[in-house]
Amino acid sequence: MQRAEEEVRTVEVTIERLLPGGVGLAHADGLTLFVSLAAPGDVARITIDRLSGKVGFASIVEVITPSPVRIAPPCPYFGLCGGCDFQQLTYEAQLQAKAEIIRDCLHRIAKLETPPDITIHASPKPWQYRARATWQFDGSTNRLGYFIRGSNDVCDVEYCAVLVPELQQTLEQLRQETLSTQLPRHIDAVAGDEGVSVAVGNMNVAGFNSPVVSRRIANETYHFSAEGFFQINHDLLEPLIAEAIGEAKGKIAVDLYCGVGLFTLPIARRFERVTGVEANPKATEFARRNLEFAKRGSTQNGRDGIESETRADRGSSPTPGSPAGQPGWGGTVREGIRGNESDYLGYTEIITVRVGDWLKQHSGSLGPVDFLLLDPPRTGAENKDVAGILALGPRQISYVSCDPATLARDLKKLTAGGYSLDSVVAFDMFPQTHHVETVARLSRRQEKDL
Ligand SMILES: C[S@@+](CC[C@H](N)C(=O)[O-])C[C@H]1O[C@@H](n2cnc3c(N)ncnc32)[C@H](O)[C@@H]1O
Repeated sequence: MQRAEEEVRTVEVTIERLLPGGVGLAHADGLTLFVSLAAPGDVARITIDRLSGKVGFASIVEVITPSPVRIAPPCPYFGLCGGCDFQQLTYEAQLQAKAEIIRDCLHRIAKLETPPDITIHASPKPWQYRARATWQFDGSTNRLGYFIRGSNDVCDVEYCAVLVPELQQTLEQLRQETLSTQLPRHIDAVAGDEGVSVAVGNMNVAGFNSPVVSRRIANETYHFSAEGFFQINHDLLEPLIAEAIGEAKGKIAVDLYCGVGLFTLPIARRFERVTGVEANPKATEFARRNLEFAKRGSTQNGRDGIESETRADRGSSPTPGSPAGQPGWGGTVREGIRGNESDYLGYTEIITVRVGDWLKQHSGSLGPVDFLLLDPPRTGAENKDVAGILALGPRQISYVSCDPATLARDLKKLTAGGYSLDSVVAFDMFPQTHHVETVARLSRRQEKDL
């Protein structure tokens, strides 16, 4: 009996291609199978872990004939750790799979007959690129690391090959803390130019008190901390911003889901009036501060205003992760921002409100919007957010997305609502994983037809 069950659950398949979510597609015995950690072209013996109707979720028991793009995953935690699910692929194959996943979503979900060609920018660093992380701590086992694949248990990770060196060092420092201190269940950390900001909730863990850090990107300075969102792969931010904003300029622009103002600042260099909308008050506080910093411009003013507050935040302890013997924030010499592309900064307001609520109130009263950028979380824009954008009717839309499936779902609504998809450019912000960032540029159809 047990043997018969095993026979049903274990089968030999060929992986046809990789799908959104990073799983391999295979077919056997009338079933559609989603196989994790697969490479396209693998011939493998798989076991079906879960069945739902005619769909099976499976894992590889044995690779019989490896795909030409399969490599030995370099990380010792691969397969156990839930973090990286593309390490079995050459980097070239990862990029190709991501472009194909986006194309597939545009075709299948957005229902675009002829999607534009997709270019993908490789990450300058396929390893040691990750400048933001959330670590899990299990006090009962003293494990510190990431969730085990498909579970809420913690995989103890001593060395994580995708972390920037400063975050790896912080992970090691936290591991030392676990010997004497209880850590919170989740720990957020982000690296900036001055060191690392670590959020340990309201627990008092010596040396880890979420200081403010900053990063210079494309001649702008952004301040942020571990308590709010900031992008993961800083090496790709300059080309990402350039692609998302392009040549846009004009009178009125809107930046939806603006976070700490990554796109708001460069947009404000080009438009007369800009509104940034973001629900997280900690993020909007930083966005206003970043704008204020840009407005003041001079090195001296900028340093004075922010230094004092940050010193008070972090007391006298050095920023975790700053190079040995060097101070953290307080001792860093900062450049001013004058003398770059332009000192011009349009009138900009940052509003702390949910995007749907703001659009409901303002879609009729803002005047003709030249440019709208949206960068929603992985779930994409809510239905009412898309309806609000259509009611606002911006001339150009730039949609920055970290999930090709929800992007395609929303593009379907935008193209049905009168927009043409002009370009799709991808950025490999998350090497070794199936995740990918995409910028889709749209323009209002009657605009083009004029
Ligand atoms: C992917 S992040 C982008 C942030 C920013 N554009 C950047 O690149 O740094 C998405 C942001 O949307 C915010 N957010 C999520 N749901 C929201 C909503 N319904 N209304 C407004 N902001 C929201 C989050 O707090 C987060 O800051």
